[in-house]
Amino acid sequence: MIDKKNIILCVTGSIAAYKSVYLSSALVKSGANVQVILSKSAKNFVGESSFSGITHNPVITGYYDSKTDLSIDHIDIAKKADLIVVAPATANILAKISLGISSDPIVGCILASKAPVIVAPAMDGDMYNSPQVQKHINELRRINIHLSGPEKGRLASGINEFGRMTEPEDLLEEIIEKLSKKKDYEKINAIVTAGGTIEEIDPVRYISNKSSGKMGIAIAKALRDRGAKVTLIHGKLENKSDTYGIRMVSVISALEMKKEIENHVENSQLLIMSAAVADYRVKNFSKEKIKKESMNSIELEKNPDILKEIDGNKIVKVGFAAESEKLLENAKKKLSSKNCKMIVANDITLEGSGFGSDNNKAVLIDENGQENLPLMNKIKLAHKILDRAKKYIN
Ligand code: C5P
Repeated sequence: MIDKKNIILCVTGSIAAYKSVYLSSALVKSGANVQVILSKSAKNFVGESSFSGITHNPVITGYYDSKTDLSIDHIDIAKKADLIVVAPATANILAKISLGISSDPIVGCILASKAPVIVAPAMDGDMYNSPQVQKHINELRRINIHLSGPEKGRLASGINEFGRMTEPEDLLEEIIEKLSKKKDYEKINAIVTAGGTIEEIDPVRYISNKSSGKMGIAIAKALRDRGAKVTLIHGKLENKSDTYGIRMVSVISALEMKKEIENHVENSQLLIMSAAVADYRVKNFSKEKIKKESMNSIELEKNPDILKEIDGNKIVKVGFAAESEKLLENAKKKLSSKNCKMIVANDITLEGSGFGSDNNKAVLIDENGQENLPLMNKIKLAHKILDRAKKYIN
C-alpha cells in the first residue's frame, strides 16, 4: 500500500534517532521512495551515509547543499511528497513546526507541502510534560498534524515516563494506515450526532448522561478523512480537539438536536446517530431556581425518538444500541423498529469499553447479518462502521 509513495523522513537530534534507521529500512522494503532530511543535531546521533545507503537517495542536511536538479531541495521534494514523517521529533522541532519557524529545511518542507504530516516525539518525560511542549503539541493537533506516541517506558535518563519514540514497526503501521485511507465518502454529506443531551430542570440543574461524545467525534473524523462533508450535531462533549474541517453544531436538549437534524437532513445522504439522547425531558422547566425544600419530585415527559422519526427512505440511517443486557436481541429489534440500515451494538457493561472509554467492543448488525468486532480504539471502530455502511450509499 505504500509502494512507490514518496515519503520524507525528517530525523532530529534525539538518542532515538537510531530507530529511524530501522524505520527507513522498513519503508524501503515496503516499496516506498524515502527521502531523508537530517537536522544539524541529528548528525551527532546517526550518520548521513546510513540513510543514503538504505534509501539510495542523497540526504538533505541544510538549505545550501543542493542535491536535486531544481537546486531548492526542500521545495522540490515537498511538492512530490505523499507523506512527511518527523521521527524522532525533539522539543525544538515541535516548537518550530508549531510556530512555522523555517530556519531548517524540515520546517521549510512541511510549510511548502500539502502532504499529511506524522510527528513522533522523543524526549525526557519532564520535558515532554512541560507546559511549553504541551502547548506546541496541542497546536500541532489543532492544525491536523498526526501525533504518534510518545510511549511510556524507560528513557535514556533512567526514568520511566512518557517520552519514548514509537517503535519503528508501530510507526510503519501508522504510516501505512495514513497512506491507505480511502476517499470513498467523497461526495457524501453526512450528519453525525455525539454526546449527551441536557434536559434542564431550572437555571442551575439538569438531567444528562455519561456520554463523552468520543465515539461520535471518531466517526465524524473518519468521515472527514474519507472525503465526506460532515456536520457534527453535538450535546455535551468531553473534548473537541482535532475537529478541524468538521462543521460543529452545538445543541442542548433532545428537541434542539431534532430540530438541527431536520434542518440538515434534506441535503444529506447519511445520518449516524451516536448521541446519547435523553429519553425524557422535564415537563415544567422552572425559570427560577427551585428551592430545595420544594423539590420533591420532577415530572417528566417523553422526548421524541429522533432516529425513528427521521424518514429512513430519504437518508441512510445508522443507529447505536448501548445495552447492558440481551445485546443482540435488543439491537436487532432496533434495526427494524427504527428503520435503520445498520445498528452498532455495544455492551456497556464490558470493562474498557463503552461510555467515556477510548475503546469500544461492538457488533455491527444489518440485513446481511452481524459482524462481531474485537475491542479496538474508537477511531478504528469508526472506520469499520464506515466500511460496512458504504454499500448503502450510492
Ligand atoms: O432506543 P435507544 O435509545 O436504545 O436507541 C438508541 C439509538 O437511538 C441511538 O442511535 C440514539 O442516538 C437514538 N435515539 C434517538 N432519540 C431518542 C433516543 C435515542 O434518536 N430519544
